[in-house]
Formats: sequence, C-alpha cells, structure tokens
Amino acid sequence: MPHSPRRSENLTWQVLQPRETRWRSLNQRPVIAWFTGLSGAGKSSIANAVDRSLTGAGRHGMVLDGDNLRHGLNRDLGFSPADRAENIRRSAETARLMAEAGLVVIVSLISPFREERAAARRIAGDIPFLEVFIDTSLELCEARDPKGLYDRARAGTIPDFTGISAPYEAPLAPDLTLATDGRSVADSAALLIAELMRLSAAG
Ligand code: ADX
Repeated sequence: MPHSPRRSENLTWQVLQPRETRWRSLNQRPVIAWFTGLSGAGKSSIANAVDRSLTGAGRHGMVLDGDNLRHGLNRDLGFSPADRAENIRRSAETARLMAEAGLVVIVSLISPFREERAAARRIAGDIPFLEVFIDTSLELCEARDPKGLYDRARAGTIPDFTGISAPYEAPLAPDLTLATDGRSVADSAALLIAELMRLSAAG
C-alpha cells in the first residue's frame, strides 16, 4: 500500500523562537549534504570521515545513514519503490529538522530515484542542500561487496537489489561528484569537507 503522508487536519503551525538564535548559539549555519550512490560505493565511509573531520574542526553535525535508520525510524520499510520513496521522505524531513536545529547533516542513502532526491531537496527548503554523488561503478561495488549482498543478490536471494534487480538513476547534475575508484577515503572526503566548512561558517 502506498504511504499517504497527509492524514491529519485541524493543525496549527506553532511559531518557535527564530532558528537563527539557535544557530548563533552553535556559532555555525546548517547545511545538508545528501549522499547518493550504489550499495558499497563508499557512502558510509566517506560520510564518517567527513563527519569526524568536521567535529574535529569544532562543527556540530550528524550522520543519517540508511542502514542505521532502517533499524529504527524506518524499520517498517522495505525496498519497493514506494517504501524507498517513504524512506527518503522521512529521512529528508529528519534532516530538515536537524538542520533547523543548526546541525551540518550528512544523509547517506542509496536514494536511487532522481525524483525522490529532488523531493528531498524541496523538503530542505531554504537550507543549503548539496547532492553528493558517490560515483563508484557497479563493477567495483560488486568486487568490494563489503556486506556480501551482491553475491546474494546475484544468487537471487535478495530481491529488488539496487544495481542488480532494481534501478539506480545516477544524478544528472549533482552539486558534487566524488569518484572513489583508485582514491583513498580521505582524498574523496577532502573536497566536501572544505565545502561544508565554508557553507557552515557563521555569517
Ligand atoms: S534506499 O534505496 O531506500 O535509499 P537505503 O540507503 O535506505 O536504501 O538502504 C540501503 C542498504 O540496505 C544497503 O546498503 C544494504 O545494506 C541494505 N539492503 C538490503 N536489501 C537491499 C536491496 N534490495 N537493495 C538495496 N539495498 C539493500
């Protein structure tokens, strides 16, 4: 059954203190970096490296990792297109809330569909949003196969596996492309770290 996000009526938006007040107390501005790429592309490793580096530099951030979110907030979702769309919607709304609180949020989801990634950008509203393509070929992801999932997908025991039996739509115009073939995680992360430091600098 498709998820229907509009079930409630008779709601009033509560006006909170200006978000800039929170941001000033953190001495930074929020930004959302949305990672997309195949399973095994290196999204989580790069997200972690970027996050650690930002924390080391005194920035406040959080990583929203697809696998982790699927242990809690998104534990009721599978891998049908409708479930993936809902996974992305909830993750984008969570990222937006964290950004409103002032954090540098790194979202690391396969997010295979262009339309859903565009929807995530819309949910971010006026929060700076970088679509970051972790560009690793299917061949390399499959050769790495860090979780042994490609093997199982090829054997037919994991249905709808992205890249094998479910589509992956590479971004047409990402804000940043990090190619991981032949590069270290640190090299891949460096460019993004610089960009996030710049965007999150207090005004
Ligand atoms: S997304 O497509 O909805 O954005 P998400 O990033 O949350 O995916 O989760 C992907 C992770 O779930 C993969 O890294 C992998 O560990 C696991 N997984 C389990 N089944 C599948 C599947 N059918 N397709 C892709 N990933 C899967």
